[in-house]
Amino acid sequence: MKQFNTLDDFDFDDRTILLRVDINCPLNKETLELEDDNRIRQIVPTVRELVDRGGRVVILAHQGRPGDWDFASLDRHAAVLTKYLGQEVRYVDDVVGEEALKAVKGLVRGRAILLKNVRELPYELEKKSMQEHARCELVTKLAPLADYYVNDAFATAHRSQCSLVGFPEVLPSAVGRLMEKELTALSSVFENPEHPTVFVLGGAKFDDSLRLIERALDRGTADWVICVGLCANAFLHVRGYSLGKESMELLEAELTPEAIEQARKLLRERGERILLPFDVGVDVGGERRDALVGDLPCGPVLDIGKRSVEKFARVIGGARTVFMSGPAGLIEKEEFCYGTRELLMAMARSDAFTLVGGGHTVGAAERLGLTAKFSYVSTAGGALETFVLGKPLPAVEALKACRKA
Ligand code: 3PG
Repeated sequence: MKQFNTLDDFDFDDRTILLRVDINCPLNKETLELEDDNRIRQIVPTVRELVDRGGRVVILAHQGRPGDWDFASLDRHAAVLTKYLGQEVRYVDDVVGEEALKAVKGLVRGRAILLKNVRELPYELEKKSMQEHARCELVTKLAPLADYYVNDAFATAHRSQCSLVGFPEVLPSAVGRLMEKELTALSSVFENPEHPTVFVLGGAKFDDSLRLIERALDRGTADWVICVGLCANAFLHVRGYSLGKESMELLEAELTPEAIEQARKLLRERGERILLPFDVGVDVGGERRDALVGDLPCGPVLDIGKRSVEKFARVIGGARTVFMSGPAGLIEKEEFCYGTRELLMAMARSDAFTLVGGGHTVGAAERLGLTAKFSYVSTAGGALETFVLGKPLPAVEALKACRKA
């Protein structure tokens, strides 16, 4: 029996569909323009199918997290989606207020709108059960106006948030085409990966990376973990290297006492399987300088070093499965994109099964013209990591529960 409904299970003609997508994109820090729109392109097939089948499509999405610089409006996303879909997707600057409800009620057959960043709602990010989330205003206000809920947000399926788990409690629900594709492709690969397996991790969320490393090594899913980017800097700090004031400012939010303790434990117990860079690229007065981690010049550490890249590329070359999530350095600056580019190229050269995920990493691979060289490119970062470890994805669990009900 199928575990969840797909778009094939419902008739959407003249029906209102709440469609949750993940179009959280890397933004330019100065202009807030989208640096990469891959996630928007990937949800176009679902939106197109729903409008072509006569649906009235209400899109829910997020960008960034409250308090972060990239917590931004979705009006630019609507313009990009309009371009790829070839028909207007109107941006509505409201989620559950009068303006939003009016826009949903006024929607006509075969049209789509995009509501305001759903993380503007304070309860969206609160940790609650599906049943509790189903009682939140977002669900109680929007669900009565809709016939179906479709979740195509694979990249954020590891979060148990209101817009992701609340609706299947009260509406017939299905996975969208992107979610379906990701789940099918990844299940077939990660049930039994070929060893040696190498995980290359650089994600900006250190606590997520720590959990992933611990579990991947404990379960034997990963034989080696190569730490790059922010994850490497955090570990280097924990090992006692002095990275300088500017690097520490970038790490500050991630280095909670719990994270430091967990990182220490991992290094103590599994250190031989965790590979850290022994040299790094430092921004010295606007120019890159490579230096050993024990002897760094003043300036922020913005990439792994060239000699470490060589070593890591050799490890990748000897693997049968390679998974990379998170860039190795500040890819927006050409000279600090070196580590990311070289590691991606090492993966592209290898005949192992190669899997790339995470918005920034996939964006970098696209700019380098490498995406066609990998075995699979996922739109997800954190959700992919969760999936790879065999942990349940709350948004998918919610869809399965509603299928059973
Ligand atoms: C992502 O980019 O990983 C997803 O959109 C989830 O974002 P989050 O880590 O802020 O929940």
